[in-house]
Parts: sequence; C-alpha cells; structure tokens
Amino acid sequence: MGPETYRETQAFLKNCWYVAAWDYELAGGKLLARTILEQPLVIYKGDSGRPVALDNRCAHRGAKLSNGRREGDCVRCMYHGLKFDASGKCVQIPGQDNIPPKLGVKSYPVVERDHLVWIWPGDPALADPAKILDFPYLRDPSWRGKPDYMHYDANYLLIVDNLSDFSHLAFVHTKTLGGSEEYAYKSKPTAIERLDDGFRVERWHMDAEAPPFHKKVVKEKNRVDRRNIARMYVPGIFFMETLFSPAGTGAKEGNLKGAKQYRNCQFFTPETARSTHFFWDYLHDYDLDNPAIASSLNVSMIEGFNEDKFIIEGQQQVLDADPDFKMNGIVADAPLAHFRRVLAKRIEAERQSLRSVAA
Ligand code: FES
Ligand SMILES: [Fe+2]
Repeated sequence: MGPETYRETQAFLKNCWYVAAWDYELAGGKLLARTILEQPLVIYKGDSGRPVALDNRCAHRGAKLSNGRREGDCVRCMYHGLKFDASGKCVQIPGQDNIPPKLGVKSYPVVERDHLVWIWPGDPALADPAKILDFPYLRDPSWRGKPDYMHYDANYLLIVDNLSDFSHLAFVHTKTLGGSEEYAYKSKPTAIERLDDGFRVERWHMDAEAPPFHKKVVKEKNRVDRRNIARMYVPGIFFMETLFSPAGTGAKEGNLKGAKQYRNCQFFTPETARSTHFFWDYLHDYDLDNPAIASSLNVSMIEGFNEDKFIIEGQQQVLDADPDFKMNGIVADAPLAHFRRVLAKRIEAERQSLRSVAA
C-alpha cells in the first residue's frame, strides 16, 4: 500500500458502536443536538432513563426536534406539535385523529454503559451491545477521573494518527505531557502488536525526569521509570495505561512499589468528514479522596490536547487546500499505517456487503 492521500480518509465505518455523548451531557432530560457521521441527531434520556437518538428533523416540515419539548420518553416538535415516541413513530398530530402508520423519524440503537452513551449508526439489526469495548476503570471505585469533551475541526483519523506515535510527546508537548525532546530519541516502542481491530504499543523510558503534569500532582522531584501501554481500536478508540515508578527500583521486572498509575480513555467520533467529537477521561489510582488531583490532571490534559489541536487543525487546513497531497511514511508510522489498513478493510467489507444486498 502506497502513501495515502487525504481523500482516502473520508469514508466512515457505519456498522460499529461510536460514543455519542457522556451521560452528564444528557442530564435533566436535555435534548442534545449533535451531528454524528454527517447525520444531525437529537439525543436525550427519557423519563424511563432510557437513552434515545432520533434524526433531528421533524417528519412534518423539517423543524429541529432538538428545539422541541421532551414528554416522558417522547419528543414533541414545537412547530405544529407532532409528537414522536422513542422509536421515532409519530404518536400524535394535534387536531387530526388519523395518524399515517408510517409517519415518523428514523431512530438509532443507543446503549448507556459506564457513563458513556453509545450509538450504532449502521444497520440496526446488526447492533450487538456485546461488541461495545469495555474500559472497566470508568466504573471501578479504585480509579478516579473527570470526564470531559472537546471539539476538533479536523478529520478524526488525523487525531488517531497523532495518538499512534508518542514521539510527538517530545515536540508537541515538551512542557506539558512529554517533559523533554529526549523522549523521542531515547524511548523506542518496545513492542508493536498488530491486532485485527487495531494495535497495541508499549514504550518504556527509563530513569527519566517526570513530565510536568505528573510533577504538578505528586510534588516529587525524583526520577522515574516510565511506561506507556497504548491500544487503539476501530473506529477510533484509544486506551492508555501509564505507570510512573521510582527510577531503578525494578518496575520492568514487576516491582510496582511506590508506583503511581493512570488510565486514559479517548473516544473519537466523526461529526463530519472534517470535524470530530472527542470524549475522554484521565483517571488516577492514588489519593482518591483528593479531588484536586483529578482537576489538575484534567487541566493539564486540556493544555496538552490544545497543543495537539493546534497542530492537527492546521494540518486539516493544509489538507483541505490540497486533498491530493501525498504523505510520506517514516518508520514511526507503522502503527498508524496498520490501523488505517485495518479500518479501510472493514469499510470495504461493509461496502461489499451493502452492494450484495442491493444486488
Ligand atoms: S414541522 Fe414539526 S410539527 Fe410541523
Ligand atoms: Fe498529543
């Protein structure tokens, strides 16, 4: 496979679970207007507590349902008052007794799990909640975090690329998440594991200065042995385990005494081909009673993510100006190249099956 062009990153995998929202975004029965995979949706939680996702377009004359009113598990369009239930079926037309049985809006399979609301944009018959990736730390009381959301004016795969190579920590995040340019030269991914649905990368940096975000919360000046294990999964889900252990105490051999750990989840959901919803949390496993730690880490991460955002949104502008620009690979691109291959295969398989259904 040759170097890809930006044009080739435009397709979406549809038969797949994507994060649509954090549960807190739907608090109070709010009607959330959110575009996902180019499709404007209204997402909300009904009185029954069940999450609902419908096309954000009234079947009557196209008013936004998110400008309507939630009634129980239903939503009423506040233009001429048509009411739709959680399946999208029209259940009331004020002043008209006969409701055409087919009148309604499209609904999507949604599942809430561990504070995340997941949506299946593809064929509802294939939506199997067992396929939702598990990140147990979000429900495990021995970890504490602070869930958050960020919006990117860039294609989601550009963000996936960014996370596929930690050497960018050294240059993009020197003063925040990385700590030094040395990280790019002295730490090499020790193992890249190619998975059927993504990859796993492990990276050790021995006897290093702790990065600023960690020093801020632990107030220790000691050098550390640092390990990152990152996993990236289709369609754009990133899990990372980070370990800081006192330098030279044998963390590599399994001695984790005095170690402090983090668990990071990041979910990238395309809004459009050139914009992305980014859901994330950065959890820690020590001093759980001190909420200032989660807050400080949240602020440090936002600082770091804004550094990425600056680079990546700039990259999107460059690619918009010339979508046929051919990128040139370097050795460090192996994980991202693998990921794009895996994803392209899945998208192609989905297209093939759609074609055979049509035929
Ligand atoms: S546009 Fe919604 S009721 Fe008329
Ligand atoms: Fe980054």
